[in-house]
Amino acid sequence: MASHVASLRGWHTALARAEIASLLPSAVVNRLPARRLVLLDGDVSPEHMLEAVNCSSGCQALLTHAVLWSNEQPIDSLLEQMSDYIQTHTRTGSVAVRSWKHEGKMEGVSARELMRKIGGMLSEQGYQIDLEQPDHRLGMVLDAKAGIIACGWMIGTGDESDGISARRATDRPFFKPVSLDPRLARLAVNLASGPLQKGVTLDLMTGTGGFVLEAAVSGREAYGIDLDAEMIEGAQRNLDWAEQANRASLLLGDATRLLDVLPADAIHRISGFVLDPPYGRNSQGTLEPTALIRAVLESSHSVAGENAHFVLIVPIHPFGEHAEEALSEDAAVELLHGQWDELQACFEQTGWRLLGRWVEHVHASLGRLILHAAIVPRD
Ligand SMILES: C[S@@+](CC[C@H](N)C(=O)[O-])C[C@H]1O[C@@H](n2cnc3c(N)ncnc32)[C@H](O)[C@@H]1O
Repeated sequence: MASHVASLRGWHTALARAEIASLLPSAVVNRLPARRLVLLDGDVSPEHMLEAVNCSSGCQALLTHAVLWSNEQPIDSLLEQMSDYIQTHTRTGSVAVRSWKHEGKMEGVSARELMRKIGGMLSEQGYQIDLEQPDHRLGMVLDAKAGIIACGWMIGTGDESDGISARRATDRPFFKPVSLDPRLARLAVNLASGPLQKGVTLDLMTGTGGFVLEAAVSGREAYGIDLDAEMIEGAQRNLDWAEQANRASLLLGDATRLLDVLPADAIHRISGFVLDPPYGRNSQGTLEPTALIRAVLESSHSVAGENAHFVLIVPIHPFGEHAEEALSEDAAVELLHGQWDELQACFEQTGWRLLGRWVEHVHASLGRLILHAAIVPRD
């Protein structure tokens, strides 16, 4: 059976690949020569795919059981395969064809002409074409750099813009320079929390509510904790503004003492921990940055549910542009505060296994390291 194809947005494709793998854990994610296309194999239901695309930050659309064409083949072979596809994968209701490009314009191929021909095949099969509000869209993505076209019934919009970037942190009633970009916040929540029904998301140091807001908007039950009453009050205003107060609860308290802060019914139900710690000395003023992270990892382990994951974002010295890949195990990064070896040891010694590391460019003098870890159960 043909694989599904995920079409990724251009921002940080390495993180977007990890995000879709986390949202669809039963899928096997395989790379294609195209940077922004991946194959999804395995037993994934259409309902889970829809949910994953709707809440993802980095996935434009999924093309189900997609036909793949490469420019080593004549273009007619794509049309022949699409003719079979349309007969085999039928839909009920009106349809439209939609196409979008990755990496510029594909030489010698007219997307318009292909759409016209595929639209003709659909009409011949008796489908009503409705360009405004079709029940189903047949998507076609052309990747000029890899010379690949993927085609299939779409799940998701295929839009380059995710709607998240339109909801800027500066638009919220309570904004501070520390507020996370919603796009990164959503991606981190998805990476840590996985599928929506998996469990509760905990934003350990919520500040203006960057993660807790994205967790709630994406449909998750969530908690946010902060030591600072001003932050809790402001984050609550942001939640009210986003009409998410029913999904998320904010708690004044110390993330290094979670058993004292969380309500009893949340303990051992937390599946996704997200942490964006203070840049310099923390507001307690007692722990150095690495010691604070260690204490939070330790405390998180004690309240975590089964198979919980942890995502940590820390500032680093600039690392160039976004890496296209996760960092290799031996790649050196220079943290703004503390040493990488010490931070790595914190994860290992508190019962968390590192799964991946990515870097993001912020500006000339700042980068971010994004760490993803999974819980190691204790005996
Ligand atoms: C970098 S900010 C978080 C920004 C947040 N991600 C946002 O989008 O606004 C770090 C937050 O950690 C809080 N904090 C520091 N130490 C803490 C602790 N031990 N427990 C809970 N919160 C703490 C600070 O009050 C601050 O609001």
